Amino acid sequence: MRTLILSSSLSGRSRSRVLCRAVETGLRGLGVETDFVDLKDMEMVPVHRPVTPDMVDLKARIHKADNLVIGMGVHCYSLSESLKMALDTCGEGLEGKFFGILCAAGGHKSYLSTMHLTQICMNEWRMIQLPRVVYAIGKDFTDLQVPPGELADRLQMFVEEFSRIGGKLLA
Ligand SMILES: Cc1cc2nc3c(=O)[nH]c(=O)nc-3n(C[C@H](O)[C@H](O)[C@H](O)COP(=O)(O)O)c2cc1C
Repeated sequence: MRTLILSSSLSGRSRSRVLCRAVETGLRGLGVETDFVDLKDMEMVPVHRPVTPDMVDLKARIHKADNLVIGMGVHCYSLSESLKMALDTCGEGLEGKFFGILCAAGGHKSYLSTMHLTQICMNEWRMIQLPRVVYAIGKDFTDLQVPPGELADRLQMFVEEFSRIGGKLLA
């Protein structure tokens, strides 16, 4: 099983990237092949602009992936412009793929914001979502790391379920 981990935040101090790295480590520990895409390092442009080499690269890596883990920060109760742009411009290879969401936010009240990503993935590409979102806010982290405790446990559950169900869907 080959899992693409798409970290969509452009922030140098991204918390959703920390979640993505933790899941990458966990999946690798279970023998899952992973590919980590960090949009912070990619040059992306909106639709109807000439595509960049990074966008060609991202499209190819999405095509190659069996399934995806998407890391998002909440922006204005929704997904960020960087993630929306990546989906709008490079998402064609997502059709039918299994995916999971890792979300960082400023507060608990925005927890339904991940549903916008769910809607896009389900309605546009008929993707199937792992019914477990890891949603974390600033105080769940210690110095941009996942401390032992509740968040670490939820990430571990995500990793185990994603690997198990993802593997079954490929069988
Ligand atoms: C433009 C902008 C809008 C935001 N809107 C929300 C919001 O609606 N709800 C919320 O809980 N946090 C909001 N936040 C806080 C981010 O979700 C939070 O900083 C999160 O850690 C961002 O993810 P990242 O650290 O991976 O970049 C916003 C942040 C920015 C920069």
